[in-house]
Amino acid sequence: MAHQWRGLIAEYPDRLPFGEGDPVVTLREGGTPLVHAPALDARTGATVYVKVEGANPTGSFKDRGMTTAISRVLQTGVKVVACASTGNTSASAAAYAVAAGLQSAVVLPAGKIAAGKLAQAIVHGATLVAVDGNFDDCLRIVRELTETHPVALVNSVNPYRLQGQKTAAFEIVDQLGDAPDIHVLPVGNAGNITAYWMGYSEYAGRTTLASLDETATRLPAASTKLPEMWGVQAWGAAPLVLGEPVDEPETVATAIRIGNPASWKYAEAARDDSHGWIDRVTDERILAAQAVLAAEVGVFVEPASAASVAGLIQAAEAGRVPQGATIVCTVTGNGLKDTATALGGREVDIDPIAPTVEAAVAAPALCCGSRAPRPRAA
Ligand code: F0G
Repeated sequence: MAHQWRGLIAEYPDRLPFGEGDPVVTLREGGTPLVHAPALDARTGATVYVKVEGANPTGSFKDRGMTTAISRVLQTGVKVVACASTGNTSASAAAYAVAAGLQSAVVLPAGKIAAGKLAQAIVHGATLVAVDGNFDDCLRIVRELTETHPVALVNSVNPYRLQGQKTAAFEIVDQLGDAPDIHVLPVGNAGNITAYWMGYSEYAGRTTLASLDETATRLPAASTKLPEMWGVQAWGAAPLVLGEPVDEPETVATAIRIGNPASWKYAEAARDDSHGWIDRVTDERILAAQAVLAAEVGVFVEPASAASVAGLIQAAEAGRVPQGATIVCTVTGNGLKDTATALGGREVDIDPIAPTVEAAVAAPALCCGSRAPRPRAA
C-alpha cells in the first residue's frame, strides 16, 4: 500500500511523551511542504524556504499541538475541552474534539475572528462564547473556568501543545539535512516560537526552559547546529518588542492581535539563547508580504502568517540578513481562512460574457485581478 504520512505521534514516537497503547487522536497533521521561494532569495540575498503550515488538516499549525493535547485529554477521562482563541486554535480544537468524541467550547473576542475560522468552529460543533474584549481577556476567562470545572484547557499553556508543535522544527531539519541558519516566525501568544526552539534544541541534543521531559534529548543528535530565532510581531500588538503588555492590541492580522502573551518568558529565552531578535512590522508590510507570497511564490497565507516574511524583508532592507544564509519562514495559516482581508477593497463582481470563445477572447481580462492574463507564447 502507498505510504501516507501518519501524523505526528506516529512519525516521531521517540520524541513525544506517549507510550505504546496510549490513545492517539490524529487527523494526520504535519508533514507539511517546505517550499523554496526564489522571490524571497532575490529580496534577501539568502536561500529562503517557507514552511507551509496552512497545509495542515484545519489549515494552521495549531493541529500539531492539538493532536498531542487532545490525545492526552483522552487519558484523563475529561469529556470537554476549551480554549481562548483568535480563531485558529478554536478551529483546530473543535475539529480534534470531534475526532476524539469530546465536546468543545471556544472563547473568542467578539467581531475579531476571520470568517473562515468562525465557520470551522461552527461546523465542527463547538460551543461558541463571544467576549466583549480581546484575546487576553478570553484567555484569562478560560484559564479560570478550566481551573474550577472538569474541562481541559487546550491553549498553548498546556505543555502538550508545545510538544506537538516542536515537530515542525524536526521536519525542517529532516528535510534540509541540518538546522537552518535563521528561523523566522510570527509571534502572538508566543507558544510557537517556544515550541520551535524546543524542537531545534532537542534535535541538537539540548533541553530548553520549556522542555517537558528529557527523554527526547537522550536520543542521538539529529542536527549539528541551532538557528537564530527571529520573531515578528504586528506593529500595534508588539508587547515583546516594547517590553510591556499592550492594553488594546490592534492589527489587520487578527490571529496575532494579542497584548500579553502567555509564553512571554519562554519567547524571550528562545530569542536570547539563540542570539536572535523579536521585531515588529506595520500592517502595510504584512499585506505587502502576503501579496508577494501569493503572486510571486504561489502560496496563499493569512495575514498573521505573512508577518514572518514581512519581518524578513524588513530586516533585509536594513542590511541585517547575512548573505547566503539558509532561512526558513513559517507561514502559519491558510489564506482561505480570511479572504476578505486578502481581497481588500478589490472588485470581485465580474460582468459575465456570452458563453462563447469569441466573447472570452474579446474580454479585457479573464479575472478580477489588477493584471490582465498573459498572452500565450507564439
Ligand atoms: N499565526 C497564526 C495564523 C496564528 O493563528 C497564531 C496564533 C500565530 C501565528 C501566533 O502563534 O500564538 O504561538 O505565537 N493564534 C492563536 C489562536 C492565538 O488562538 O489561534 P503564537
